[in-house]
Amino acid sequence: MCGIVGCIGVSNAKEVLLNGLSRLEYRGYDSAGVALVNNGDVIINKCQGKVGQLADSVKNVANTSTTGIGHTRWATHGVPSDVNAHPHQGHNKRFSLVHNGIIENHAALRERLEDQGINFTSQTDSEVLVCLIESIAAMSAVSGEEAVRLALNEVVGAYAIVVLDSEDPDQLVVARKSSPLVIGVSKDAYYVASDATPIVAYTKEVIYLEDNHMAVLAASKPPVIFSIDKATPKPPYIENLEMDLQSLEKAGYEHFMLKEIHEQPTSIADSLRGRLSGERALIKLGGIEQYENRMASARRIIIVACGTSWHAGLVAEYAFEQLAGISVEVEYASEFRYRQPIITSDDVVVAISQSGETADTLAALELAKSAGALVIGVCNVVGSSIARFTDAGVYTHAGPEISVASTKAFTAQVTVLTAMALRLAQINDHIKKDVVSQIRDQLLEIPGFVEQILKNTTQYEAIAKDLRDVRDVLYIGRGLSFPVALEGALKLKEISYIHAEGYAAGEMKHGPIALIDTDTPTIIIAPGDRHKDKTLSNLQEIKARQGRVLVVTNQADTSLKQQADWLIEVPPTHEVLTPLLTCIPIQLLAYYIARQKGCEIDQPRNLAKSVTVE
Ligand code: F6R
Repeated sequence: MCGIVGCIGVSNAKEVLLNGLSRLEYRGYDSAGVALVNNGDVIINKCQGKVGQLADSVKNVANTSTTGIGHTRWATHGVPSDVNAHPHQGHNKRFSLVHNGIIENHAALRERLEDQGINFTSQTDSEVLVCLIESIAAMSAVSGEEAVRLALNEVVGAYAIVVLDSEDPDQLVVARKSSPLVIGVSKDAYYVASDATPIVAYTKEVIYLEDNHMAVLAASKPPVIFSIDKATPKPPYIENLEMDLQSLEKAGYEHFMLKEIHEQPTSIADSLRGRLSGERALIKLGGIEQYENRMASARRIIIVACGTSWHAGLVAEYAFEQLAGISVEVEYASEFRYRQPIITSDDVVVAISQSGETADTLAALELAKSAGALVIGVCNVVGSSIARFTDAGVYTHAGPEISVASTKAFTAQVTVLTAMALRLAQINDHIKKDVVSQIRDQLLEIPGFVEQILKNTTQYEAIAKDLRDVRDVLYIGRGLSFPVALEGALKLKEISYIHAEGYAAGEMKHGPIALIDTDTPTIIIAPGDRHKDKTLSNLQEIKARQGRVLVVTNQADTSLKQQADWLIEVPPTHEVLTPLLTCIPIQLLAYYIARQKGCEIDQPRNLAKSVTVE
C-alpha cells in the first residue's frame, strides 16, 4: 500500500515520477506528491486526489530536474488531505521523505520530538520519521545517510523510504524493512520504486533491496548498499527484469479488470507452460522439485493467505486432500499469525499471494519458519518479499495484475495449486495413475474452455441490468464451488459496493435463508458434480420463498432451465477443475454490474492492491 518512486541522473525527473506514480496508483490513490530538485533547491508539490490531479498541478513546473521523489498514498495515519500527502519534510526542511508502511512507535517518537520543540504539520507517522532523521542530523555531526540509518534503528514498524537531503541533493538514500523496494540501474541513472512497473520503461537491470537494508544512490557512481543495523556493506546483486511494457497497458480495454479477465486463456496457459505436458505425462514443478517428497509425506499442509488468494487456498484444500490424500488446513494469515498456532517441523506451510508482499501472509510465514516448518510460496510477482523469504516456491506467471480486484491471479493460483496437488498425487500414489493423467489432460484444456466462455459475454450486460439495483446478493455453492461462491461475493462487493455474502450451500438453512425474499437474489454455483442435486434442493427452497436465482452450471437440464431466473453455462470438465470455469462468469457479472453502476472499477473506493499494512 502506498507507492513510492524516486530517480536520480535522469533527463526529466518530473516525467519519470509522474509516469511511475500512475503505474503505482493501484497501491493507493487518495493523494499524491513529488519533490523535485531544482538548482539545488527541493520543491514539493502535493495534493489530495489522484495522480492525474497532481499532474495538472505540476503542469507549469519546469522539466529540468534530474532528481526527485514521489508518492501515491493509501491513508493510514491521518485523513486524505493536501497536508497529509507525501513527500514530508523535516522541521528545518533539510530532508524530504516518501514512505510506504507504518511506523508503529510514531506516538512515542512524536512526543519526544515535541519535547524538543518540534511542531508537526501533518497527522502522519511519516512526518515523525523525517523529523527524527532531521533531529539526529542536527544534534550529531553525521552524514545525511548516517542520520537516516540511526533514525531507522529507533523505529518500530514497516517501511520503504526514499530520502532527499537538500545538503546533498546529488544522492538518494533508500531503505526498506518489511515493505518492498526495487532499484533500477542504468548507465548514468537510478530509479527506485515499490515495484518494478515504473522502472521497466527505462531499464531491465534491477536490484531487489533486501529486507533491513539501505542504499545510497548517486548518479554515475556504483550503488552503496549496507545493513540498517550495523552498516555492514553488501555487494549489489543486479538481476534481469522479466517484464514487458505492453503487459502494463490497457491494450484497448476500457478497464484493466476486463483486460485481465480476458487474458485468462493466456495466463492459465502460461502458468502451466513447461510444467504440464499431455504427451509426455509430465507434471514438473521445478521450483519445488527438491522438496516435493517432503511435501507429499507432510503430516499436514497449512495454507496461509488473504482475500482472493485465501479462496484459491480453499480450492487447493479440496485438490490436495482429494487427489494427494494430504490433510490441509487453510488459514487467514491475519488470524494465524496472532493465534499462537501449533506448528511443527513436520508441517509444510504454503503461502499464496499475488503480490508476494502481503504483510500478514509474510508474518505468518516468518512464524512458520521459526517453528521449523518448510515454507513454500505460490506468488505472482517475481522477486517479491514472500518469493524471496520462502524455502522454495512456484511462480504463477499470470503477468502483472493492475486491477485492484484480482481475477487472472486467482485462476493462475488455482491452476498451479491443482498441478501441485496432481504432482503430489503422483508421488503418493493416492489415486490411480490414469485418473491423474486424465485430470492433467483436462487441465491443459482449460485455457480453451475459458476462451469459449469469454467469447460470449452478451448475456452479462442484460443480467447486470436486472441486478444492478439490488441491495444484497447471496452466493452459494458446495464442495469446490463453495470457494467460488466466496470469491463471487468478494468480487461483487469490492467493485460494485453491493453487499454480497458467500455461503456453503449446506449452511443456507442454518441462518442465511432468512434473508431470502423477492429483493435478494441468490447466485448458485452448481456444476454437474456429486453435490449438484443437493445444491439444487437449495434452489427449490429459495424459489419456495419467492427468491430469484441465477445458476452457473456445466450441466443445464430441462428442469434447471425452467427453474432458474438466469442461467449461465460453462463447458463440462473434471469436478476438481470446475472452479477454473465457474469463476469466470462471476468475475464478468461483477464487472458488468459495477460498470452499469458507474463505479471506479480498477480502483475501488477505500481499497488498494498489495496490502503491506497489517
Ligand atoms: C481481492 C483481492 C484481495 C487480495 C488480497 C491478498 O480481489 O485482490 O483480496 O487477494 O489482498 O493479496 P495477495 O494475493 O497479493 O497476497
